[in-house]
This record gives sequence, structure tokens and C-alpha cells, in this order.
Amino acid sequence: MALHEDELFARLDGFRSGDLDTKGGRTWAYVYDPGRADIDRIAKRALVEFHDTNALDPTVFPSLLHLENEVVGLARDHLRGDDAVVGSFTTGGTESIMLAVKAARDRARELRPEVTRPTMVLPVTAHAAFHKAAHYFDVEAVSVPVDTTTWKADVDAMADAVDDRTILLVGSAVSYAHGVVDPIPELGRLALERDVLLHVDGCIGGFVLPHFRRLGREVTDFDFSVPGVTSISMDFHKYAYCPKGASVVLYRDASLRRHQLYAKAAWTGYTVINTTIQSTKSGGALAATWAVLNYVGDEGYLEIAQRTLDAVDAIRSGIESVPDLEVMGSPESNLIALSSDSVNVFDVVDEMRTHRWYVQPQLGFAGSRENIHLSVGGASLALVPELLEDLRAACDAARARPTPPADDEIVALLHSLDPATLGPDEFDLLLAGAGIGGDGAGPEVPERTAGINAILNVCPPELAERVLVEFFNRIFVPPT
Ligand SMILES: Cc1ncc(COP(=O)(O)O)c(C=O)c1O
Repeated sequence: MALHEDELFARLDGFRSGDLDTKGGRTWAYVYDPGRADIDRIAKRALVEFHDTNALDPTVFPSLLHLENEVVGLARDHLRGDDAVVGSFTTGGTESIMLAVKAARDRARELRPEVTRPTMVLPVTAHAAFHKAAHYFDVEAVSVPVDTTTWKADVDAMADAVDDRTILLVGSAVSYAHGVVDPIPELGRLALERDVLLHVDGCIGGFVLPHFRRLGREVTDFDFSVPGVTSISMDFHKYAYCPKGASVVLYRDASLRRHQLYAKAAWTGYTVINTTIQSTKSGGALAATWAVLNYVGDEGYLEIAQRTLDAVDAIRSGIESVPDLEVMGSPESNLIALSSDSVNVFDVVDEMRTHRWYVQPQLGFAGSRENIHLSVGGASLALVPELLEDLRAACDAARARPTPPADDEIVALLHSLDPATLGPDEFDLLLAGAGIGGDGAGPEVPERTAGINAILNVCPPELAERVLVEFFNRIFVPPT
């Protein structure tokens, strides 16, 4: 039966009752709050006004072609590209990265046909999206350890990993986990020396870093001013505070971007020519991005960036009053990782939930121990004193009620399992052992996640990946 509008929106509202807060600054990952309600109003209006357009064919929606060229032009100028730089508006960082990898692969297919099994060389700190791209496009990802003090790419180690199969190098500006800029100028030199492409992942840092530089912070060059950089991804739906579904991938010139595009005439329907992975797509996010960028403007973004930096500084100095936690490395942007020698950080994350905060657990990997991630933004500053106070209380509570670490027997068992040979029953058992489901009622995430995180933290990554796939394969089922 059709629902009345009031009933329908009441239900939609109800569905959100368990969601994280997207506004107010208490959520320190996943959502980006500028601390200004007017920006949201502008974004929503443009999003709605363009929601029914279709960017599948910009020749019949010339408004979208115009908007995309303006938005890409703004990104190009922001990242110091010259007039040869081109790009595409995409749905997010992952899509931008995937397209850059596909372009590199297809370019190599044309120019280096002898490379039948291409590789890309990337630091272990590079975003998982590169591994996803490697998986989808059949490019081998060669992960290289980083300096475990600075958490930056080790250029010599990356140079050692380059061989005649390498088509692409990757660096981050900034890396998600530790918020640092890789040595992009040195990576650019390596790329030129070895005649390979270099993608800079500026998905989360690309928009804010130029503002931070103008506000007096030291920022390593990472953009098109660096010789050897051939493509850059930068998300608008992060620190440009645009609605989700907004990113850009830029190329040094159109001859490289050509390999990103896809056309198909050999079928019975309309001729397909796509710049990005999606074909039909709403112009809403693009219009909202154009609107927000032009509404906030340079001065507005600088002001938000200043508040963000003030919040970062306040957290970094204030964390000294939380003796259980320390900042990992020396963050160069607005992302902070907090580790601990004395408490289980996963317990701290759970305790913070009871104080209505969301701080993000990050598992240990490749020398980077488990930690708590904070994405700091425009709405953060006013909340810093309360955050620090609650972090202190959460650490005390975590010490008083520690989740027992996974014992040696369990660790040994997890390492003895071959994920490829496990069947559904074994996964049910593993999920139940981790405290998620297995009781016949369907899997459910418990309120406290420290136990699950403690197990994932000691699991071989391949096993953790399979368990997570099985978990999602069980939760995404239509209601009966
Ligand atoms: C450095 C970096 N690259 C890529 C991504 C992926 O972006 P998205 O989640 O928009 O796909 C992120 C997301 O946080 C990121 O921080």
C-alpha cells in the first residue's frame, strides 16, 4: 500500500535513529562538517535542483558540461596545473583513483605492449582504493614499507621495487592513517628517471593543504608544480564540504586522460561514451559542488582552514593531558592518529561511544600499531576541550575494564587457517567467535566492538578480508 508523505518521512527519520550524527562535530570520521549550516542549505538546494539531470550525455545537458569544466578548472588552479591539465568529475576518491590506475594501464597497453603483467609501486600507507583498482584492473600492487617514524614513503625502497613491469608510482598528500605528505618531489624525480607515471592521492589532503600553506604552515610540494607528477585525485566531498559523490581526477594533459575514457558503438542501443565508471548519473552532486565552491569562496575556505588548524593544534597540545595516548608521528594536516602503551585503544573507542562521540579504530598493519583516528574539521574547534576530557575518562574506563587480548592459542589458530578452504559453516563459527551473529537470528554488530577489533587486529589480513566479506554477504539480505 502506498504510504502518505508524512508517514513516509516519519519512517525515514526513524530509520536514522541508530546512525552517527552527521552534524555537530562529534563524529570524527566519515562525515565532514564545516560548522556552518548555510553551506548545507546551499548544497541541498543545488543538489535537488539538478537531481533529475543525467550526465550520461553532456551534449544534451550542456549545463553539466559547463559545470564540470568550471569545477575541474578550479581544481586545476588550486593544484597549480597549467592550461594543459584536464580532468573529470567523479563520485569519490575511490573512483578517481580507479580511473587513474585504469588510465595508466591502458596507456601502458598502447605504449608498452611488452608489459603483459603491469605493476604499480605504492607505500603500505597508500589508500586501499589502489588495491581495489589493482584487483579490478588486473594491475599488480607492489606494497613497499614506509619509514616507521615519519610514516612517509621510503623513496629508496620504492626505487628498489621499480622494474620493467612498473607502470605507475603512488604517493599520498596526505595519507589517511597518519596525515603526512609523502616525499612527492623525490618520487617525481624517481618517476622521471624510470619513465613511469606518478599519481598523487590528494583525496583527503589536496583541497586543504594549499590553504594550510597560505596560512603559514610548511607543506611539501605535492601538486602539478612538481615535475614527474602525472595525475592527482582530490575529493570535494571531504574538506571542500560538498555533498557526497564529489571528487576529481586530474591529468597532466589530455593525452593521458584519453586512456580513462570509454566508448562503445558496437551494440544495438544508443552510442555510449563515458568519462567515468558510471554511465547514467545525476548531475546533482556536480551542481552542488559548483554551488558550494562558489558560495564559500576563497576567503571562506581560508577561514574554515584556520579554525581547523586551531583545532588540530589544540588537540596536539591538549593530548599531553591524556597520559595514556600519544600522537603517532608528526601529522602535517588535519588527520591525527592516537596510539597507546597503556590502554587498549579499541576499548577507548567503545567508551567514547558512550559519551556520544565517534572516533575511528584503525587496525595495526606493517609496523603501524592499532590506533584511534581523528579527522579534524571546521566544526571541531569548539568541542576540543570536551573531547579531551572525555578521552581522559574513556582511557580510565578502558583501563578499569580491559577487553582481554586474543590469547596465543587463538592467534595461532587464526594463522593456521587458509581462508580459501573455509566454507560457510566455518565462517559462521568465526563470526560467532568474534561476537557477531551465528545464533540463527542473523548477524548483528554488538554495541561494543573492541572484541571484534582485537581479533581482526591479530588476524592475517587475508582472513580478516574473507570474514568481512562473509559478514556483509550475510547482512545485505532483503527482509523476509
Ligand atoms: C587519502 C585517501 N584516498 C582515498 C580515499 C577514498 O575516498 P572515498 O571514500 O571518497 O572513495 C580516502 C578516503 O578517506 C582517503 O583518505
